[in-house]
Amino acid sequence: MADVFRDRLLQDKIAFITGGGSGINLRIAERFAAQGAKVGLMGRKQDKLDRAAEGIRAAGGEAVRIAGDVRYYEECDNALRRTREAFGAIDILVCGAAGNFPATVLGMSANGFKAVIDIDLLGTFNTCRAAYEHLRKPGASVIGISATHAFVPIAYQAHVCAAKAGIDIFCKTLAIEWAAAGVRVNVIAPGPVDDTEGMRRLAPTEEARRNAMASVPLGRFASKDDIADLALFLSSDAAAYITGAICVCDGGQSLLGSRNFLGTAGATA
Ligand code: COA
Repeated sequence: MADVFRDRLLQDKIAFITGGGSGINLRIAERFAAQGAKVGLMGRKQDKLDRAAEGIRAAGGEAVRIAGDVRYYEECDNALRRTREAFGAIDILVCGAAGNFPATVLGMSANGFKAVIDIDLLGTFNTCRAAYEHLRKPGASVIGISATHAFVPIAYQAHVCAAKAGIDIFCKTLAIEWAAAGVRVNVIAPGPVDDTEGMRRLAPTEEARRNAMASVPLGRFASKDDIADLALFLSSDAAAYITGAICVCDGGQSLLGSRNFLGTAGATA
């Protein structure tokens, strides 16, 4: 990790992270906690949340966890209130909850499309909308988690592409609306991230992994740490003048355009 991150950059900050029970979002929570933040974790699965919070506490951090589904506004509201009651006003919000499955447009029902839009896009709206009254203003930082899907079309991922494009423009709009209150809003757009449920679903075989990796100029997938470091930077004072940015973290993959590493054969089947 870079030297700039040696200090406890988030000492006494309060962070709230949706989807915080696993994957990229858990790594972000762990990184924040290691840098001095107290974290509230929201997710659908109680057992994952329990393990995540225990791990953070075992490493010397502070965490609360609240089970809930970001598709429901009241559940976001409840989780945010409980985090505030436990720790105080919220300095950092990470909207990380996401859903994904590979399917063509013809291979998914309207409800399948809606499930991903509701988790990713509506969930980001619900989290931000419910969080506003709990944010410590000025100075708060909001991070949306998007993907390069937002601007690179990928067969079998139309639902995710549409949801992530929505997150990008939603967060840019929010950056304008909340700037006067001193709240920054930015987006992290990862490409393929190793050792995540998403990549296990999208590239389940060694051959699929090799194909995907060959499409990355830097020659490897992102690690969860790569994304956590970017989240740490965006939520720290080092990024005090950055708002409305879509921060691509993909090893240069999207520079090559639409690579469709899932293939296109059978896309009308
Ligand atoms: N292909 C086509 N349709 C699928 C599908 C697949 N592989 N998986 C789910 N669906 C459809 C279901 O058939 C259902 O539609 P229907 O009611 O018309 O049959 C719809 O999606 C909702 O499925 P359900 O299992 O009830 O939803 P859920 O809310 O429990 O799950 C998902 C949400 C579908 C997004 C699920 O993949 C999920 O929970 N993912 C979270 C974890 C994850 O993907 N993390 C990685 C993020 S990058």
